[in-house]
Amino acid sequence: MIKKLYIKTWGCQMNVYDSSKIINILNKKKYLITKIDLEADILILNTCSIRDKSQEKVFHQLGRWKKIKKKNPKIIICVGGCVASQEGEEILKRAKYVNIIFGPQNIHDLPNMIDNFLKNNKTVIKINFGKIKKFDYYFNFKKNFKSTALISIMEGCNKYCTFCIVPYTRGFEISRPCDDIIREIVFLSKNGVKEVNLLGQNVNAYKGKKNDGKICNFSSLLHLISNINGIERIRFLTSHPIEFTEDIIEAYEYIPKIVNFLHLPVQSGSNKILELMQRLYTVEEYKNIIKKITSIRPNIQISSDFIIGFPGETKSDFEDTMKLINDINFDASFSFIYSPRPGTPASEFKDNVSLKEKKNRLYILQNRINQQTISWSRRMLGSIQKVLVEGISKKNNLKLSGRTENNRIVNFSGNNKMIGKFIYLKITGIKPHSLRGEII
Ligand code: SAH
Ligand code: F3S
Repeated sequence: MIKKLYIKTWGCQMNVYDSSKIINILNKKKYLITKIDLEADILILNTCSIRDKSQEKVFHQLGRWKKIKKKNPKIIICVGGCVASQEGEEILKRAKYVNIIFGPQNIHDLPNMIDNFLKNNKTVIKINFGKIKKFDYYFNFKKNFKSTALISIMEGCNKYCTFCIVPYTRGFEISRPCDDIIREIVFLSKNGVKEVNLLGQNVNAYKGKKNDGKICNFSSLLHLISNINGIERIRFLTSHPIEFTEDIIEAYEYIPKIVNFLHLPVQSGSNKILELMQRLYTVEEYKNIIKKITSIRPNIQISSDFIIGFPGETKSDFEDTMKLINDINFDASFSFIYSPRPGTPASEFKDNVSLKEKKNRLYILQNRINQQTISWSRRMLGSIQKVLVEGISKKNNLKLSGRTENNRIVNFSGNNKMIGKFIYLKITGIKPHSLRGEII
């Protein structure tokens, strides 16, 4: 019998990707997706624990699902992702009605876990790392492709930045075999995919095995992907400055398919704070990478992540961050107030900056970045942009919507036949979160 699956996803692109794989895996078990939790047979919460209040958010959501389960005790409730990995069995102390708890590396085990639960009617927990079998389930056999595809190339992180929970919840860096990635992208391109977005906590650390036993690094992978017919754009997320090596910088020269846009998280503009964060680079080294890339691609746009109010961040450290922002002229950025994560070294550092001061610093920083975003958009006004048309505009169903190389959404009047194709648009207007364009 066909059953219905409802999945709620929080957090990063990795989680979005994992959820799409969960859907694929359970589709084969005849679970079809529903957008209404009340009519589901199985409820899945794919959680994120990178910042504040993630646990509270999880139990809040579970509280709502508890009511659904009360009415229909046959519903299976599953908790996955990083909170599941971090809390494991502890989740049952506050929500004993949860039936399945699975970590980010165990999504391929879900069908078995469901069978076990149905057989024994006992909570099933799997949150172990190890050699990632999940990669075997990555190949995308789905038929209705979009023009752009997320492709996971590696998992986990070994960097242990002192503020970050990821190495504890997602485990060590493990790379997906190179030929497997290429085979999948060839398949996707034959099915109309034009753009790939390579995903990993730290894609620059990619070291995948090839069938001949040799190791393929990230820049070699980029070269291999660039040779695939039909793939016209390559994006990747996320990079770490420490592994943004010369060969990757050179790839910007030889591979025009790599977009003119780079997300390179810096976190802080103060060397003292970078050291406390254990980021393993200095502000000067970061700037040097940007300098080298802009010498190859003068119009490249850079975005970043910032943490504000890290323990020990003085006014002068914050001013150093603002100076870096002014020097680089970022296209966009994600910025967050530091949030202590249980079990990480920084959670034990002395923090003597008030929340009010942190909020004030965040406000100043975000204001400056917004100004920079607007100024980059203004520069685009009147220019011709190559846009990958993704579909009908979310706000106006008479318009189409596409993306420029630097990830700006452009809404324009066009023909539905353009969906899934690249077209050239003249940018005619700028809005806070999107651009307007006209076909030329
Ligand atoms: N590998 C990715 C990191 C993923 S976490 C990378 O290097 O970009 C995404 C972002 O969340 C980080 O870059 C950081 O800015 C932010 N972040 C992580 N832990 C945090 C914490 N404890 N408090 C506030 N922000 C945090
Ligand atoms: Fe986290 Fe640092 Fe890795 S931010 S994901 S530990 S590179």
